[in-house]
Order: sequence, then structure tokens, then C-alpha cells
Amino acid sequence: TEILSVASEVYPLVKTGGLADVVGALPGALSPLGLSVRTLVPGYRPVMGALGRTREVARLEDLFGGPARILAGHAGGLDLIVIDAPHLYDRPGNPYVAPEGGDWPDNWQRFAALSRVGALLGEGLVDGYQPDILHAHDWQAGLAPAFVKYGANPRLRTVMTVHNLAFQGHFGADIFGALGLPGEAWAESIEYFGGVGFLKAGLATAHAVTTVSPTYAAEIRTPAFGMSLDGLLQARARDLHGILNGIDTDEWDPATDPALVRSYGPATLHRRRTNKRALEERFGLANDEGPLLGVVSRLTWQKGIDLLLAALDGVVAQGGRLGVLGSGDPELEEGLRAAAVRHPGRVGIVTGYDETLSRLVQGGADMMVVPSRFEPCGLTQLYGLRYGCVPVVSRVGGLADTIIDANEAALDAGVATGIQFAHSDAGALSEGLRRAMALHAEPAVWTKIQRRGMKSDVSWARSAQKYADLYKSLLGQDQ
Ligand code: ADP
Ligand code: GLC
Repeated sequence: TEILSVASEVYPLVKTGGLADVVGALPGALSPLGLSVRTLVPGYRPVMGALGRTREVARLEDLFGGPARILAGHAGGLDLIVIDAPHLYDRPGNPYVAPEGGDWPDNWQRFAALSRVGALLGEGLVDGYQPDILHAHDWQAGLAPAFVKYGANPRLRTVMTVHNLAFQGHFGADIFGALGLPGEAWAESIEYFGGVGFLKAGLATAHAVTTVSPTYAAEIRTPAFGMSLDGLLQARARDLHGILNGIDTDEWDPATDPALVRSYGPATLHRRRTNKRALEERFGLANDEGPLLGVVSRLTWQKGIDLLLAALDGVVAQGGRLGVLGSGDPELEEGLRAAAVRHPGRVGIVTGYDETLSRLVQGGADMMVVPSRFEPCGLTQLYGLRYGCVPVVSRVGGLADTIIDANEAALDAGVATGIQFAHSDAGALSEGLRRAMALHAEPAVWTKIQRRGMKSDVSWARSAQKYADLYKSLLGQDQ
């Protein structure tokens, strides 16, 4: 079975968040199950730079305003199909945002093009290549299932995966004409609050919809989490599946991770101390044995960083220290910087994107704090489990599904892997952090929680099988 995965980022070539990790890891997890995956990505500068030898497999004269070459190649262990369209992708900055900030004004064309090429590949654009399933990720690929529905290959099955419902790809009605869809598509599938909804289109037209945890799959069918799409998701409830993300356990392994100053395993947790010292240095923190809380996150409302700011003085008063690696909302960055000034040696912030430092946080901090208001799955808590960096998380979405709270019953049974607290509530977060620091003060209990987490199965094995089963059920359907 041939799967065409369509996405706007893929680790290790281009990453702004967890989407890249998932798109990068799934092919390797599916291949032992007999599924061959090719990943279609835009030819951004770093992608073109990472490609070795490529083969031009097709050429398009006009892809939303300019010519494009479709290239097949390999990089980062992946089978890639890349859209080399300089007018859309050959520019600095990140995939979505210009260097001086602000979304690229032609994002609708850049990602309509991605979706369009995905659908064309499904219609036999390339001689000798015929996918059975087109698997679209997030709004950037949201139009792909729609192009397929109104396209020339009715046998192709489509899956739309929601990694984050907050990003919807909502544009003006005036772009509809340029998409090349038939008129009836507007009312049937595309129209969203009077404009064009990329994610909405995918949710309305894909044969199956998935999201990245069972709890989030249930949450998004309610107004509180549905972000205006709950009605549609409720209507599609029979085709909506929550499949938990895994992580690449070879790529993320404290025994071999070259980003760590000292490697370790469950039996040699004392070695984490060396990483902790290095981390204190990087964050400008005092050197002591008290709890070191780590955060690796986009700094946004979703991630509850403002709640953390509110809880911070309490953490410091209780002897905790906090190191934050993140970037995002300038106000939150500023708030964290002010906290670092207020609490010298106790609070440190490094802004920007730093993969190596993110791994050192996992390998050196005592806790990974994730106070999200909503969280489709979350990966940093999974890396935390793997690295013995005990997750302290809000009880929401995938965080609720992956961490077992260290309440008395769970501690007695020896199954606790972290600490949970009610989401969107600064008081609950403070109480959760207090509880976590109290547990940290009992080394025997703490070590047990760390080891239990390191033993939990965070690999892709189970979830890859679920995707495989879903693909199979779609291909078995009457066509
Ligand atoms: P989201 O995709 O919503 O941002 P996830 O927890 O699913 O959240 O994934 C975030 C990914 O991005 C993780 O791999 C995390 O380590 C990484 N990450 C987030 N912020 C940074 C940063 N400032 N530097 C390096 N890695 C980061
Ligand atoms: C999104 C979500 C995050 C999820 C990631 C990968 O960015 O915010 O919760 O882990 O996608 O699926």
C-alpha cells in the first residue's frame, strides 16, 4: 500500500513544532507494517539545501503564479517529493512567517499549491507512481482532500489529521475562483464564515478525520474546544478517530543523545546531575540541589505561559528554579525576562529555537512543566517521560492521556509517571507545582516516578498499527 503524506513541515528538514516530529517519524513506524510512505513538502530553502541528488519527476507550467518542478529525492531517511517553486518557497524566514514577522501574504497560494500538487500526484501526475491514500496534515494540506473529492481519481482515499484546531487557514472569499474548484464545492465543502476555510474543507471532504489523542478527539466535538468547528466535527463523529502520537525512540534516547553532556539510563540517573549543572550555566541559574523546572515551548496562550508567570513567585519562594526555552508572543517573552530580572539565579530564559538545548533541558531538568490550556497531544511530556524529566502537566487533551498522576493510589500501585493539575487555572497550576516539588524532596519516591516514566511505552508501535488499520478499512470500503 502506498501512502502519500502531505505536510508543511518534516523533521529533520524543517520544523516549527510537533507536527514536524510526527510527519518525520510516521513513515519509519509504518514501514515495518508493509506501508510505504512518501512525504510531499514545499521546497523551502532548508529543504532544497538538504536534498542530495534528486530526480525531476514532473513539471507544472503554472502553479499559483509561476512554474514548478516536482522532485523526488531522499533526505533524513525519508522518501520525499518536493515542490521546487521558487516564486512560492525560495525565501528566508520560517515556513509561515516573514523574518520581520507577520504571515507571508501569499500563504493561501503557497499552501493551496501544496494541496493541489498532492491531489495531482493522486491523479497520476508521475508515471509509475500511484498512491492509494492521501494523508493530509493540518490546514496547510487541508485543501488536498477537497481537490481529490472534486478531482479525477475517485478511487483515492483521503485522511485529514488535525494536529491543532487553532490554526485553520481562513482566507477571503475572493480567493475561491483561483483555486480551480467547481462552483458547487463552495457551498458543499469550502465556505467557512463567508470565506475559504482550508482546514474546514479538509474536515468536510476527507474520507476519515483523525486527531492526535483520544481525549482531544472528544474535546473538539464540544463548543469549549471546537473553535467553531465542533458542529462539523460532531457531524463527522463516526469518521473521527483519536490516535495518540508516539515519539521516535531511537532519535530520542538519553543513552545515545549527542546533545547531552552526559548520557544515562534508568539505572544511572545520578549522571543527569552533570547535565543539570550544564543547564544551570546555560540559563544563568544558581547551582544547587533543589528542583529545577524546565519548559520547552512555543510561548503562546495555548501553552498557558501566562498562568506559569502567575505561579512563578510561588515556585521561587518554595526553593524551585525555572529555566524556559521558548519563543513566540513578545509579551510573554517580556514577562519571562522581567521574572528573570526579579529573581536572579532562580529564573532563566533563553529565547529562540534551539534543538540541542531542548534536549539538554530534557536530560538535565528535574521536571518538564506543560501548563497548556488545550493540547492536541503534546510531545515534550513524552520526551520528558523518556528522559526521566518528570512531566508536570495540565489534565487536558493528550496530556491527560499520556501521564499518570502521582496521587496516593497511583504511588501505592507504583504506576505514577508525573503530576497533573486542572487546566486553565493558575491556582491549580501552583498547587500542582507545589505537589511536584514536595515529591521531588523525597528522592526514593521521585526516582521511582522517573523510572516508571522511562519504562512507559512512548514509541510509535501501537499508534502506527492504528493508522495502518484505518488505511486498511478505508481501502476496503465500497469505492
Ligand atoms: P506544539 O507542536 O504545539 O508546539 P509539541 O509538544 O507537540 O507542541 O511539540 C513541540 C516540539 O517543538 C517539540 O519537539 C519541542 O521539543 C520543540 N520545541 C518547542 N519550542 C522549542 C524551542 N524553543 N527550541 C527547540 N525546540 C522547541
Ligand atoms: C500540534 C499540537 C501538539 C501536537 C503536535 C503534533 O502542534 O499543538 O499538541 O503534539 O501538533 O501532533
